[in-house]
Amino acid sequence: MFSTRLRPLQSYWPFSLLGGSGLDFMSVTYFKRYRMEVNLYRRRIAPVRLPLGYRLVPWSPALVDAHAETKYHSFRGEIDAGIFHSLSEPHGCHELMAGISSGEGFVPEATWLVETENEFGEAESCGTIQGVKASPRCGAIQNVGVVLPHRGQGVGAALVSAALLGFQQVGLARAYLEVTVQNRSAVQLYQRLGFRRTKTIYKSVEMAYG
Ligand SMILES: CC(C)(COP(=O)(O)OP(=O)(O)OC[C@H]1O[C@@H](n2cnc3c(N)ncnc32)[C@H](O)[C@@H]1OP(=O)(O)O)[C@@H](O)C(=O)NCCC(=O)NCCS
Repeated sequence: MFSTRLRPLQSYWPFSLLGGSGLDFMSVTYFKRYRMEVNLYRRRIAPVRLPLGYRLVPWSPALVDAHAETKYHSFRGEIDAGIFHSLSEPHGCHELMAGISSGEGFVPEATWLVETENEFGEAESCGTIQGVKASPRCGAIQNVGVVLPHRGQGVGAALVSAALLGFQQVGLARAYLEVTVQNRSAVQLYQRLGFRRTKTIYKSVEMAYG
C-alpha cells in the first residue's frame, strides 16, 4: 500500500491558488516571511566595515532621489519586487522613499547610502537602507538593498550595522525587519548580525489576468 501523506505545508512556499469564472482568473500567491528582531540595549553592534573604495553617506533630504534609484536597481528582478509592486518601478521607489523620509517616525541616523566610484571616477550609489521608529522603543529597518555587482563584499552587512548604531544613538532598545524566507542570503546576513526570528507572516499577493 502506498502512503497518501501530504508533505508539510512549508515545502510548498510560495504557493498559488487559482480561481475565477469565464475568461477572468485571479491568482493569489502566498509568500512566507519572517519578522526578525535584535536586542540593541547594551549590545555591541558589529563594526561597520566597508570594502576599500566604498563609503557611507549620511542622510540628507537632497539624497531622496539617490536612495530611490539605488532601491530600484537593488530590488529589480528580485523576489521582493514581485511581492511589493512599488519596489518594481522607479516611480514606486520614489514614492516609497518620499513617504518614508517625510513620515513622523523617520530616523535619519539609521538611514544610509553607500557610494563608490564608477569607471569614470564619478560617485555612484550602490547601497541603501532606511530606518523608522515603529514604536517608542523599537526601530524598523526598511528595504536594505545593494546593487547586484556590489554584493558579497560586506556592503549589506555594513548598511545594517550602520542602521543599528543609528537606532542605538537615538535610544531605541530593539530593531526588527521583515524578510521573505526564500531570500536565503538576506536571512543568513541578518542571523549573522544577531537578528532572530520572532514571527512568521504569510503575505498574499493577488494577480488578475484574463
Ligand atoms: C540582501 C542584500 C542586501 C545583501 O547585500 P550584500 O552586500 O551582498 O551583503 P554582504 O556582502 O554583507 O553579505 C552577503 C554574503 O557575502 C559574504 N561576504 C561578506 N563580505 C565578504 C567578503 N569580503 N568576501 C567574501 N564574502 C563576503 C557574507 O558572508 C554573506 O554570506 P552569507 O549570505 O553566506 O551570509 C543583497 O543581496 C540585496 O540587495 N538583495 C536584493 C534586495 C533584497 O532582497 N534585500 C533584502 C530585503 S529584506
